[in-house]
Amino acid sequence: MDKIRLVHVGLGAWGGNWATHVLPQHPDLEVVGYVDLVAEKRYAIAARLGEPPQKFFAHLDDALTYGAVDAVSIAVPIALHAPVARQALEAGKHVVVEKPFAASMAQARDLVALAERKGLVLAVSQNYRYYPAPQMVAQLGHRGTFGKIIGAKIDFRRNAFAERSRNTQIPDPMLADMAVHHYDLMRMLIDEDPASLSARSWNPAGSPYRMDAAAAMTVTFPGGANVSYRGSWVDPGPQTAWAGEWQLDFERASILWTARGDQPWQTKRDRVQILRPNAELEDVALTAFPLHDRAGVLAALAERLRTGLEPPYFPSGRANLGTLGMIEAALRSATSGGAPVQPEAA
Ligand SMILES: NC(=O)c1ccc[n+]([C@@H]2O[C@H](COP(=O)([O-])OP(=O)(O)OC[C@H]3O[C@@H](n4cnc5c(N)ncnc54)[C@H](O)[C@@H]3O)[C@@H](O)[C@H]2O)c1
Repeated sequence: MDKIRLVHVGLGAWGGNWATHVLPQHPDLEVVGYVDLVAEKRYAIAARLGEPPQKFFAHLDDALTYGAVDAVSIAVPIALHAPVARQALEAGKHVVVEKPFAASMAQARDLVALAERKGLVLAVSQNYRYYPAPQMVAQLGHRGTFGKIIGAKIDFRRNAFAERSRNTQIPDPMLADMAVHHYDLMRMLIDEDPASLSARSWNPAGSPYRMDAAAAMTVTFPGGANVSYRGSWVDPGPQTAWAGEWQLDFERASILWTARGDQPWQTKRDRVQILRPNAELEDVALTAFPLHDRAGVLAALAERLRTGLEPPYFPSGRANLGTLGMIEAALRSATSGGAPVQPEAA
């Protein structure tokens, strides 16, 4: 396959950003169609991109019958991830869908089975994997130089008031919508699925969010690593970068890292440092990463389609089941007052 002929579905706040900032000039793609139910969104993006109106559709079916299509990218509300992905897979197209993968494990498992039956690639856009810092940390950790991993402390802080957040009505903004990135990074870096998870969540006084915007949790991995996590959308402290601030502890050193600055197309806030006992913090030089965030996911998809092999850390639908399992476990634990829950494995 030369370039992937892609149809992109969803031109809302984030999906529109895919169309304007991620898909144009991507070396592995040719966008052959854009889909959104709302005409104004289609007109706005068409005008912004200078693309002809014939490439814009209200329904995915029409886009799929218009010309040759290899794959579909999906950035619609979560409840529609599974139905739209199913429609694309049934039409014989590869799929890359936004996080969280689906509204339930059952839906996600159905999609994985369907893709496998049809011999199609189904991927989840876990875009935080595709930044220089987590990729470097994964390499350092998995090499075993610092010994076995013993745990991690993770802090995520945003300030809804400073940011004038608009997205305050989403369900479970912390434990589902945001922490999904952090669950996925835990699984990528620790290279295991958790054995047990205990979570509490609350809505801080004055929070503009409809549902709990802050959470704390402990996650235990089968190899013995323990993670303590704190996250808040409504924190008056200094804001962290979106990947959060991590201290990843190994037997002989800790790795301190953060990634994903305020704009998704920047990597300048990525930082990795090593702390050995009785030594100064040591900066690790990061490898340039021209295709990062969602462009990195799409480059990995292209490699998977070209070679038939999954590149390292590739967020296939099957691999992502463990991340979705952590969302469900966290929500279940929080509604039972923090009781330990065993997440459903991938
Ligand atoms: N990975 C990240 O960092 C990140 C960041 C933000 C949002 N997201 C995810 O992106 C997805 C989209 O978020 P958003 O902020 O763009 O949402 P949004 O509500 O702003 O936009 C959704 C768009 O989908 C369109 N739509 C709805 N049903 C459709 C259908 N059946 N066919 C075609 N179009 C349809 C709507 O008209 C709307 O324009 C969500 O799943 C969200 O979780 C991911």
